[in-house]
Amino acid sequence: MEDKANIIEAFSEMAPRYEQVVDSELNRFWGWSYYGFVNLLIASTPVQPQDIILDVATGTGVIPSLLEKAGHPRNQIHGLDITMSMLNHARDRLAGQDGHVEENLVCASAMEMPYANSGFSQVICGLATHHMDVKELILESYRVLRNGGKLTIGDVGGSNLWKFPGVKFLLRIVAFIYFFVAENKSRAWAETSAVSNILSKDDWSFVLLNCGFRNIVIQKLKSRYFWVPSPLLIKAEK
Ligand SMILES: C[S@@+](CC[C@H](N)C(=O)[O-])C[C@H]1O[C@@H](n2cnc3c(N)ncnc32)[C@H](O)[C@@H]1O
Repeated sequence: MEDKANIIEAFSEMAPRYEQVVDSELNRFWGWSYYGFVNLLIASTPVQPQDIILDVATGTGVIPSLLEKAGHPRNQIHGLDITMSMLNHARDRLAGQDGHVEENLVCASAMEMPYANSGFSQVICGLATHHMDVKELILESYRVLRNGGKLTIGDVGGSNLWKFPGVKFLLRIVAFIYFFVAENKSRAWAETSAVSNILSKDDWSFVLLNCGFRNIVIQKLKSRYFWVPSPLLIKAEK
């Protein structure tokens, strides 16, 4: 409960400057621009015109907006996020595209999605799995996907070395100090508690397989420093 409150507080505060903050963090740690990363995620999602897409933890709606700009029908793109202020920015962004009021944005947790079974053919999630219990998120993604539906995730990945005693503890301390100094206390707590949710490539394969996914492909993406956890691009099929 406390983690959830910290996440909502951290992202509510960040919402007006979200893309700017994330762009500078991704550049600093990975050498990626924010739009470079999100565009890669979209390019890796094999979208067909008839697809019904769910963008999990949509934030300020950048992914739905890029999908729409790429020509995907807006009524087939849905977004869900736990932070209302982030969704308000998503509403403004999507309404700004043609003045239409966005109805497909929902404020809810990705670990308890308010959707019927098998309603989507694509689930996307960018830069957000580390804020959640990954197994619960993956089970929910599986439930809302129809058979043959695709899951595409881009987020920070951990290393098998993190299993050694004390390593995660040390990372938590580093994360807290960095985000406390660079941002604020709620962001520092949100990122500190996220450390335990960051999975290695092997852990991701294990969770996805156990939740029923198949055709799992996990790619380690380029990162600026060997000691910074690298981004992963994860694809799987129900
Ligand atoms: C780093 S942002 C990513 C936003 C967006 N996907 C993007 O690529 O710009 C992380 C988002 O995850 C959301 N989030 C965190 N925990 C969540 C949960 N349990 N359910 C839904 N959204 C969540 C936050 O509110 C925040 O908007």
